[in-house]
Amino acid sequence: MSKSSSKPVLVTCGLPYANGKAHIGHLRTYVPADIFVRSLRKEGREVTFVCGSDTHGTPIVVNAEELGITPKELVEIYHKHFDEIFKQLGIYFDAFGTTDDPENHNRTLDIVNRLIEKGYVYPKIIEIAYCPSCNRFLPDRYVEGSCPHCGETARGDECDQGCGKHLEPGELQNPVCTICGGPAEYKQQEHFFFKLSDFSDYLMDYLSNDLGGTSNARNYALGWVKQGLSDWCITRNLEWGVKFPGRDDLVVYVWVDAPIGYIAFTEQWAAKAGDSWEKYWKNDGEIVHFIGGDITYHHCIFWPAMLKGADYSVPTAVVASGMVKIEEKKFSKTRGYVVWVGEDYLDHGFHPDLLRYYLASYTSHTKELNFSWRVLQEKVNTELVAVLGNFLYRTMLFAFKNFGEVPAGELEPAIKEEIEKTLKEVKAAMAEYEFKRAVDSAMALASFGNTYFQSHEPWSLIKQDKAACGHVIYNCLHLAKALSLIFEPVIPETAETAWKELGQEEDLHTALYDEALVPIKAGTKLAKPQILFTKLEDDRIKEMEEIANQRVKAANAKAAGKVEEKEPSKSEGMGTAKDVEEAKKAAAEEREILPTIEYKDFAKLDIRVGKVLLAEPIKKSRKLLRVEVDIGEEKPRQLVAGMAPYYTPEELVGKYVIVLANLKPAKLCGVESNGMMLAADDCANDIVAALTPDKEIKPGSRIR
Ligand code: 2FM
Ligand code: ZN
Repeated sequence: MSKSSSKPVLVTCGLPYANGKAHIGHLRTYVPADIFVRSLRKEGREVTFVCGSDTHGTPIVVNAEELGITPKELVEIYHKHFDEIFKQLGIYFDAFGTTDDPENHNRTLDIVNRLIEKGYVYPKIIEIAYCPSCNRFLPDRYVEGSCPHCGETARGDECDQGCGKHLEPGELQNPVCTICGGPAEYKQQEHFFFKLSDFSDYLMDYLSNDLGGTSNARNYALGWVKQGLSDWCITRNLEWGVKFPGRDDLVVYVWVDAPIGYIAFTEQWAAKAGDSWEKYWKNDGEIVHFIGGDITYHHCIFWPAMLKGADYSVPTAVVASGMVKIEEKKFSKTRGYVVWVGEDYLDHGFHPDLLRYYLASYTSHTKELNFSWRVLQEKVNTELVAVLGNFLYRTMLFAFKNFGEVPAGELEPAIKEEIEKTLKEVKAAMAEYEFKRAVDSAMALASFGNTYFQSHEPWSLIKQDKAACGHVIYNCLHLAKALSLIFEPVIPETAETAWKELGQEEDLHTALYDEALVPIKAGTKLAKPQILFTKLEDDRIKEMEEIANQRVKAANAKAAGKVEEKEPSKSEGMGTAKDVEEAKKAAAEEREILPTIEYKDFAKLDIRVGKVLLAEPIKKSRKLLRVEVDIGEEKPRQLVAGMAPYYTPEELVGKYVIVLANLKPAKLCGVESNGMMLAADDCANDIVAALTPDKEIKPGSRIR
């Protein structure tokens, strides 16, 4: 984000699928985006903030079918749900539409037609998965099979459990219909392709020189372009979606019309506000997309290519957040590692600002964020209560009791300087999307306030020299005013309460940061302050942990088939029925002991002790590590191990491990694996442990 620019800024958030309830993983994108928007407004920038529901695509059709309702009915339920949750969290969009709105159908047609006119779209006969027993084509998630790149189980459009690659129709191997579970076959069909490959040079230049945002997004995208881009199938055999021009049997792929929603929602805002959407999408206003890191490909490759091809403005910045863990476990709705924003948080009476603060301050925006009830308790009690709340409350209570108004005083240069320094740090951190740094810097100002209050001992001073005490309190009240302004983007509701107690009449949400340097007015009447943050007690946290534990237990029991599976109700998280089915299958396989074998079969396995000499991530994969192991041969063996979620490379290096040495070599994500590192896998609890010998033993020693 350019610090000196004064152009209008459009900020968008990745569109939630209107297919399930809001969870903390969603908020990882929306809360920082809202903080960013509020902060830009405080700097006096003109900002438009839009989002909406992603309503098309196969999963929505599949879930609606399972529930016996229409896709339209399904998306209405969740669109309303997200709209409410966002407002409760203090996230206010200037427009929050749906991708099924007429504006989006029209804008999508406009863009697709333009791409056709300009020769960027061509028809091609391809193989499409087809289920002979269901008598239908199987787009995207209607089909599962193995990934042609890494061999993992994958969906029709994405290798979601392996290398993470986008898959084109027809690429999946051994396709199986997800409706009836029967084998699918490939049938020839005409579909339409976008010439993504024509944009390689353009994207290389754009990503290297123009795109701002977080470096994770840019670097991943550059890596993909360097590997070479394939053309992209942009049609699907579905009824629900935006019809492909001239073809009643085809709709455009959801990843075409979903980002176009960003434009459609800008149009909705413009119509309402009497403003222009073109200033962003046809001229040089800035466009900043906040997304989850998992949809970088779509935002840094497909989307700018489509926009460029259709003569629209391209994004100025893509800000990609890291993933969310729950109590240090991989986020998983099926396994119960999920925190629903409504029923698990807001409905238990936790204040939205506490969660906003947690999400902004836990870690850097691009890193993995762990949500834990204990950490929430600790952060609230030791930071919000003990530092910020303490300073604001003790200042305002003392002032109210002893003066009833802002006493006369002069703003001390040292206080002003401290505020100036904080403002500079906060603005710089926000411009770099470093929300934690901004919040830490604001919290340091509150600490400074506590030190100032404590060291001036106003409780003694009031007895000796009321005017001198008034001066100290004047400075504290000014600091409280500055803190309300600086914290407003993060904890808008609480900051507003403090602001009002300080007798400030201007609307805090539209007040500028600069106001923090305007000395508070002596004589301003003060309201009786209330405690702004209260400690989170152990019993509340225990109660929440218990709920979380029960959920995990129930998920395990369900997966193990102990509980009759209910039809998911309309308000339950979607994708559930299918996920449970999968987990059940996996759990059954885990329990069952395989048929007896002869010793001669076991003897075919050449299993050796190895010592890990090197371990490093494989760029294209979230799961895989490239490992070099000494197994007593001349040269170390190169293996590819799916250990990245469970071990850091540093943890593996030096470890004695067990290696199946005569497994046929295979390529995983382009890297050859000459054997397999053995590990124990507790699927239900997402724990994987590398096997290791009980004592140090020469690498190469045989296991028999
Ligand atoms: O991954 C998702 O949740 C998508 N619904 C995000 C779409 S963002 C945009 F491109 F529309
Ligand atoms: Zn794969």
